[in-house]
Amino acid sequence: MELREWAMRVFCADCLEEKLVAPIGGLQELTDHQPGAPMGWRQPPRAATLKIAPKHQRKKFPHPSSLDRQDMRVRSLHAFANHELMALEMMAWALLAFPAADKPFRKGLAKILLDEQRHFRLYAQRLAAMGVQFGELPLNDHFWRAGANIADPLDWICTMHLTFEQSNLDHAPYYAKRFREVDDFESSQLMQQIFEDEIHHVRFGSCWLKHYQPPDTPLFELFASHCTLTNPPSRAMGAEFQEQARRDAGLDDEFIRSLRAWQSVG
Ligand SMILES: [Fe+2]
Ligand SMILES: [Fe+2]
Repeated sequence: MELREWAMRVFCADCLEEKLVAPIGGLQELTDHQPGAPMGWRQPPRAATLKIAPKHQRKKFPHPSSLDRQDMRVRSLHAFANHELMALEMMAWALLAFPAADKPFRKGLAKILLDEQRHFRLYAQRLAAMGVQFGELPLNDHFWRAGANIADPLDWICTMHLTFEQSNLDHAPYYAKRFREVDDFESSQLMQQIFEDEIHHVRFGSCWLKHYQPPDTPLFELFASHCTLTNPPSRAMGAEFQEQARRDAGLDDEFIRSLRAWQSVG
């Protein structure tokens, strides 16, 4: 199966089952001979039950101190599941948007797309075990809003892998801890699993950032200059800064120092 064909099928799917479809024959059977013409950003179609809710209907993200309540944990997990769904739609879009990118870049993206499909399923299954179907709560378009401002693979890695996914190096272990504190061990283990995978996704971003780095441009400067306006480097961090996870993801000490300094300025 051609990479483009699979990405198009996922991106254009208007039902959940199709968005989660695996490539025929698995990742190793995917070919990339006809990547096609670049596709500009547009919002992917959604089933009627999974439409983005108007702003006034959206619910606030629960305060960590409220997570002893099951409905608040459900609300958090539902928001995380929505992030996974948007992430997989955007990974599919990136494959369609950047047909001329290096082949290993595109293959790496395909692998991450598969991971995001798996992550979505894990959250949806956890929600179902807690009595809620994904889509029962209002959905936002958080990641999608960045789409129109991503013009090339460098913008893409800085926004998706090094901002949204990097922030999950803090969020995921933070919520693993919070869920454990209220004895929700299943949700805690799920967050831990997401955290471990996210290190690889951020590593993909850091490897390609280094690949695109011009001589004499510090890595952090390159990153910061390719973040979208509404997603500055401060969005790449959560409540508890995980330094080691960033090192494991291939970010060097200077990058990590600069990011933390940005936090104290911003
Ligand atoms: Fe994910
Ligand atoms: Fe990810």
